[in-house]
Parts: sequence; structure tokens; C-alpha cells
Amino acid sequence: MNTDAGTEIIRTENVTKRFGELTAVDRVSYRLRENEVAGIIGSNGAGKTTFFNLLTGYYPPDEGTILFKGEDVTHVSPERRVAMGMMRTFQLTSTFDNLRVIDNLVLSYYRAYKKPSLLSLLLTTCKRYRTEEKIAEALGTFELQGVAHRQVKHLSLGEKRRLEIAMAVLAEPRVLLLDEPLAGLGESEIKGVLGVLGKHVGKQTILIVEHKISQVENFLERLTVMHEGKIIADGECEECLRDPEVRRSYWQIDASAEGADQASTYGVHDHE
Ligand SMILES: Nc1ncnc2c1ncn2[C@@H]1O[C@H](COP(=O)(O)OP(=O)(O)O)[C@@H](O)[C@H]1O
Ligand SMILES: [Mg+2]
Repeated sequence: MNTDAGTEIIRTENVTKRFGELTAVDRVSYRLRENEVAGIIGSNGAGKTTFFNLLTGYYPPDEGTILFKGEDVTHVSPERRVAMGMMRTFQLTSTFDNLRVIDNLVLSYYRAYKKPSLLSLLLTTCKRYRTEEKIAEALGTFELQGVAHRQVKHLSLGEKRRLEIAMAVLAEPRVLLLDEPLAGLGESEIKGVLGVLGKHVGKQTILIVEHKISQVENFLERLTVMHEGKIIADGECEECLRDPEVRRSYWQIDASAEGADQASTYGVHDHE
């Protein structure tokens, strides 16, 4: 990993979140740099989604601090974090299922740039903005031209996922956060979603939380592995996946066991 690349955009220091007796996120110190495409993996219950919710402001941490470009945002609300341009997650993006794809994009764009009342926009001005260059660009990038005038409720899951990510990207967040963006998608839909996300590599800071590493390993520049609320490895993908602690915790492989070589594990199996 090139640790000097890019300005640091997100930093957490010893962030901790407890649910009763359980420490879901345990003193996590994490850094994300501008234009980095990073991933967090870990088995179910590792604390990935809780960490994600701390980053977005959905939960306040019990301990620790969260910084955005050096500014302390630990107790800033999710809405305010979005307004600061800090981040946008497709899970915070709700689609209007009775509207056309293109008008969902218009709403997202308009909300990000003009901030009018949504209702007045719905009633009067949607059509006017359909020709906006950024909308056309988003339709192209996310391969939604063919369904631009279809109601969202008639989309396939893969098309809907691409729309959700397109809406998040249209708001031009500094960081795009994706919690299991590939969940529930079939093989070809996964290719489609990664294909369109790939077009943003180098132009956008992307943090993907995924359960299954095989889906994203070729895509990521950097990997962080969580286990029982802690970061147990962080660095270049292959290096992380070879790490003895990761092999033990994530794959539950005894590193000394015969046949547990790299070829039989790395990139082949996912933790279920
Ligand atoms: N709102 C909550 N209340 C109580 N326990 C929770 C809550 N959210 C998550 N947990 C627990 O915290 C741990 C981490 O969960 P989570 O962050 O969802 O893990 P992951 O996303 O890696 O699967 C799990 O043991 C889970 O049961
Ligand atoms: Mg999760």
C-alpha cells in the first residue's frame, strides 16, 4: 500500500461501540485517503455494519473520535454529515418507486445542488432537468439508458442497485460508502455493479463493506479485515489475505495445517 497517496479524508481514533455487554466495535483506528478504493471484510457479526453506522453518524461512539478532513465530527448528525459532503451511502438513498429512473436521478441531482422543496420539484420541474448533462452522464455511466423511462418498481434488482449507487454518486460526496452493495445480486448483476463502480476508481473515494471477499478482491486497492470488533489486518489485499491471523479468524484455517497453502484458500473460498 502506498501510505503517502492522497490526503487523509476520514480518520477514526479508538472508536468503540458497545451494545450492553457486547463490544461491537472495539477501539478501531482507521484511515481513509482521498480517491482510495478500500474495503472492509469480516465474518458475520465482526462489527462491519456497526463501524459503518459510526462513520455515517447513525450511532454515536461510546469512546473515540471520528475526523473528517481533520475536523471532529464525532457527534455530528447523519444529515449534517451528508450536507458537509462527507459521505453518501446507497442505503441512505431512497428511490421513489412509482417514478421513472430518470426522475429519481433528477431528484437526487436537484436535491444535492438546488435544495428546493421536493414536492414543488415533483409537481413542476422534473421534466426540465431531464436534459441536464450530469443526468445523461449518470445514465451512461451506470448503464441505465435503456430503462431511463421505466418506473423504478419495474426494475430488476441489479438495475435498482445501479440506480441507487448512481443517485448516491450524483450528490458528489467526498466519500461513497457502500455496505454490502452486492448482497442479493446474481453473478452478472455483480459484474454490472462492479463495472460501473470501476468507472469511478481514481475519481472518487470509495469504501465498500463486504462479507464475501471473492466479489471485490480484484477491485480493491486496500483491504481491512475486522474480527470481533477489532481490525486484525490492514493493507494491500493479497498481503492481508495471507496474514496468519486473518487465516485463523476469517477462514478459520490452522496456518500450520498441511495443505492450507495460499492457493487453496486465497481467492477461492469465502467465509460463510
Ligand atoms: N443495534 C444493535 N443492538 C444490539 N446488538 C447489535 C446491534 N447491532 C449490531 N449488534 C451486534 O453487534 C455485533 C456486530 O454486528 P454487525 O456490526 O452487524 O456485524 P457485521 O456487519 O460485521 O456482520 C453482532 O454481535 C451484532 O449482533
Ligand atoms: Mg453487516
